[in-house]
This record gives sequence, C-alpha cells and structure tokens, in this order.
Amino acid sequence: MSRRIFADLEKQIEDRREKGLYKEERIIESHQGAEIEVGGRKVLNFCANNYLGLSSHREVLKASREMIRHRGYGLSSVRFICGTQDIHKQLEKKVSEFLGTEDTILYVACFDANGGVFEPFLDQDCAIIADQLNHASIIDGVRLCKARRHVYAHNQMGSGEYEFDGKTLPGLERILQSEEVRGCKYRMIATDGVFSMNGDLAPLDRICELADRYDALVMVDDSHATGFIGKTGRGTPEYFGVMDRVDLVTTTFGKALGGASGGCTSGRRVMIDWLRQVSRPYLFSNTLSPSVVGGTLKVLELLSSTTRLRDKLERNQKYFRRRMTSAGFDIIKGDHPIVPIMFRKFTPNDAPVAQAFARDMLEEGIYVIGFFYPVVAMGQSRIRVQLSAAHSKTQIDRAVEAFIKVGRKHGVIS
Ligand SMILES: Cc1ncc(COP(=O)(O)O)c(C=O)c1O
Repeated sequence: MSRRIFADLEKQIEDRREKGLYKEERIIESHQGAEIEVGGRKVLNFCANNYLGLSSHREVLKASREMIRHRGYGLSSVRFICGTQDIHKQLEKKVSEFLGTEDTILYVACFDANGGVFEPFLDQDCAIIADQLNHASIIDGVRLCKARRHVYAHNQMGSGEYEFDGKTLPGLERILQSEEVRGCKYRMIATDGVFSMNGDLAPLDRICELADRYDALVMVDDSHATGFIGKTGRGTPEYFGVMDRVDLVTTTFGKALGGASGGCTSGRRVMIDWLRQVSRPYLFSNTLSPSVVGGTLKVLELLSSTTRLRDKLERNQKYFRRRMTSAGFDIIKGDHPIVPIMFRKFTPNDAPVAQAFARDMLEEGIYVIGFFYPVVAMGQSRIRVQLSAAHSKTQIDRAVEAFIKVGRKHGVIS
C-alpha cells in the first residue's frame, strides 16, 4: 500500500494549487543582474540576493575563469583526503581577515555550515537558545544535535508584528534565567543576523550583553549581511559594534559575495579547528570548486578596497523605502535592502492577492515574487523586494511607478 503515496501527493499538490499556494519556477534566460531576460522579455529584477551586483561582475567572472585554468574544474574529493588546494587555505584566511575572526572553515553551502555547526559542540547536557524566526538551515542544524532546544521571539509581540524597539529581549532573558538552562554544561544563542523574510536585524549588542551576563556562546548566521551591513560591510556584528564578542559566524558566498555557492563558519580558532575534525558536512561532502574559490577571493579583494557598492546599496534601499512609504504601502520598517510589501488588510485572502500582484508586476516589466504560507505564517503574505547596488535610480523609480499602478488596481493603495 506504500504506493498509495503517489495519489496522496497528487491530492496535496492539487490542494495547494486550489488554494493559490503552489509555487512555480520562472525561467531566466540571461545572466543575473538588475536587468534580466524572462520569457523572451527584458525585465528589471527586484528579487535576487545579488545585493552588491557582483553575480555577473566582469572582474569576478575573469578571476573565476582564471582559477579554472590554474586549478581545474573540480577536486573529486572531500577536503581531508585530497580536496584542499592552496586557494582553499587562502580563501579561509581572507574571509577571517574580512570578518575580523581568528579562523574560518569552508563548506559547499551555508546550509551545510549550519547543519554542521551545533552537533560538534553541544550534547544532551547543553542548551541551544534559538530565535523563532531563524532560517530553516539553523533549525535543521539544531535538530541534528542532542542539545535541548529553547525558542524565543526577538520581537515583543510574538509572530504577528515585527517592530522591535531594539532594547529589550524579555523572551531570551527569561530562558537564560531558567534553572534548566543555567544548569546546562554549555549554552549557545543561535540567531540569524538578518531575518530573511522581514529584513530586520537581530539586536546583537543586546544579545551579546545577555550572553555575557548568563555565560552563553553566540552564533550568528550573517548570510543576508556579509559584504554590506555595517559601515564597511563586515555584517551585523560590525553594525552593532560586537565583532569581538560573537563566537561563531556562519555565512554564504551565494548572495552578496558573488552569488555562486559556498559558505563558511568563522570564529574562535579552537572551535574552527574542532569543526575540521568532526563537522559532518565538512568531512563527508565534496570540497568547494576552484571557480567559486577564485570568484569569492576576487569579491573579497574588491570589498576590502572600497565601500562604494555597500554605500550605493544603502542609498538605494533608503530611497525605495521612502518612496513606497509615501505612496501608502504597508511595508515592514527597517534598514536593510529586503523590503517586504505586506497585504495584511486582505487576510485571510492575502496569498492569492500577493501572487496576482507579482504576476501583474511582471506584466509591467518588474520581476518580484510573492511569498506566502508555508514560507511565511498565514496572514503574512508579502512581496519581498530586494534592492541591489546594481539598480539605478531610474530603475527604482520604474519599480515604484509599477507598484503604484498595480497597487491601485488591486485596491492595495488608494
Ligand atoms: C539566513 C540564511 N542562512 C543560510 C542560507 C543557506 O545558504 P546557502 O544558499 O549558501 O546554502 C540562506 C539561503 O537562503 C539564508 O537565507
């Protein structure tokens, strides 16, 4: 009877289609960039993690090609057998320099970094205290580890409203104060630096203060921050002035840092050393390809020499937020290029509105995507706009004009 699963799955898929929750893939026929080709048409892209516009940057492409020439296409090995080249060590050193950490270990994805960062340090006598809105890969990493899991909300009002006053974290403190957690061997606070659905930043200054007070380690996933958050783009620890107080940072090379793939864990030397011994996605998965290493090395060189791109991105996101707010859209406030446009007044029918809105935006030549349950909670459907340093002011103006036109059509704004 196990084969009945096929029919059951068909039914669940059909159910999703009927509820407007079925996700479709759109096919891109060009490089990644501010302008891309979709279905034979040129459209402006406002939904990539290409924050600094480096995904198709000429110098990054050249560095990647040259690295293939010098070090080959692939290594056909995990790191500790015969998969470590001089360039892997160089990249680990450069990432450490960039993030101001003691050492770094590479993974083929940040998903793997998060999958392999808890279990090596924490057993059943330990506690992980995790933000409720952490990325799926942190949640899975925590599941792979025997430590007791405690979840807190970084916003004071629970899951509905994301406006945090930046000062208090009563949920986190309550957990740290509990007898059970105080009695653990080790405690680790695990949080996204930036929450990818909302674009809000974890208040790391407050988190580090609580970690000091209650003797906890701090782990931050900075995938949506490395390269552009903070005055010189070192990420949320720089933004909050706690670069020397965060024990472990995981991040991706698959977003602002060129967007190909790859990730890492960076932090205290002894912890990184231990990860090389026992972290399973590192030990049992192939090494990072030379083309990605070459491209990422070039990206770090570019970002270490100037803050021009992160400065432009900051101007772009502030300008877009200002214009959308004055047009009357319901946006989640913040200081990040992720700008969620909400449809809360349509609840419980907000998912189909978000989907229809995104389709109409594409008709207007603006590529954005609707996010809805199960990616976000019911009643929290949104279009997640992502700004890039590659966008010109004219392109942002075009997007805002299209939002206004489509917004009026759907009764989102008057
Ligand atoms: C916060 C966060 N962590 C980790 C990941 C996974 O990164 P990667 O694509 O390198 O596996 C993502 C990607 O969606 C992310 O948003």
